[in-house]
Amino acid sequence: MSATYTNEKEELNIKILLEAIYSKWGYDFRGYSSASMKRRLFYFVRQKDNPSIEDLPYYITRDKELFARFIDEITTNVTEMFRDPGFYASLRERVINPLYSYPHLKIWHAGCATGEEAYSMNILLDEEGLRQRAMIYATDINRVVLEKAKKGIYPAQCLREYSENYINAGGKKSLSSYYCEAYDHFIMTQSIMDNIVFTEHDLATDYVFGEMQIVMCRNVLIYFNRALQNKVFKLFHECLDLGGFLCLGTKETLDFYEGRDDFREIDDEYKIYQLVK
Ligand SMILES: C[S@@+](CC[C@H](N)C(=O)[O-])C[C@H]1O[C@@H](n2cnc3c(N)ncnc32)[C@H](O)[C@@H]1O
Repeated sequence: MSATYTNEKEELNIKILLEAIYSKWGYDFRGYSSASMKRRLFYFVRQKDNPSIEDLPYYITRDKELFARFIDEITTNVTEMFRDPGFYASLRERVINPLYSYPHLKIWHAGCATGEEAYSMNILLDEEGLRQRAMIYATDINRVVLEKAKKGIYPAQCLREYSENYINAGGKKSLSSYYCEAYDHFIMTQSIMDNIVFTEHDLATDYVFGEMQIVMCRNVLIYFNRALQNKVFKLFHECLDLGGFLCLGTKETLDFYEGRDDFREIDDEYKIYQLVK
């Protein structure tokens, strides 16, 4: 069998599977970049007891539990507290000041994974005297990670790295002010959890929340093709308040988005933009 034939067959099998998932469950993975989708999909079908790629459309449209496992394994959920500390230092320097003029703040973390990013933001807001007026909406497509995020419990072995990140992010206290240790885990304090709502939201198919002052979406769009990225940028554009901030992090850029001119880039390394028109 030639390599081209094998490739074409693989592509066709993936296409059939993603169409079947969309029509049965309404989740739209058709705009995910094909290389990473292929890699994770073939990892999934190689696992013991999972159906082959040819049989998967049949089983996945009939078995809700298999589909839930599929979502959990097909998405990449790696994250950490104060990931890319320089990004948070930049938020402190460039984004915080204008936020004092709002009586209430709405912040959306799209693709929040297990929640560390949203808790980091809340700690930063706390230290800048803005937490009391802020509401954080943290969303993800993956229910399994959202359940972990809601609990706010993480392995103690991460603490060293997270504390270092916190200091490099310009932390003003000690990270230990925001958690309690229990055996081999630590749990975020209630005050840091109270104003965060974790909820399911699919960037590919769902509509937007209300007017946001900050939208943060880091390390998510790299898994989407250009067309889906543009659709999501449009979504963010629509839900941002004029003067609000879109924070993409080091890996993504607005450069190819048709509405790019409405934004002013305020940090070219961490890709932080302000909606100005
Ligand atoms: C690598 S994590 C990024 C976590 C965090 N933003 C960070 O930078 O550390 C990517 C997250 O995007 C989520 N995701 C993937 N596709 C999504 C979609 N269509 N809608 C919402 N979230 C999605 C995944 O489930 C995963 O938790």
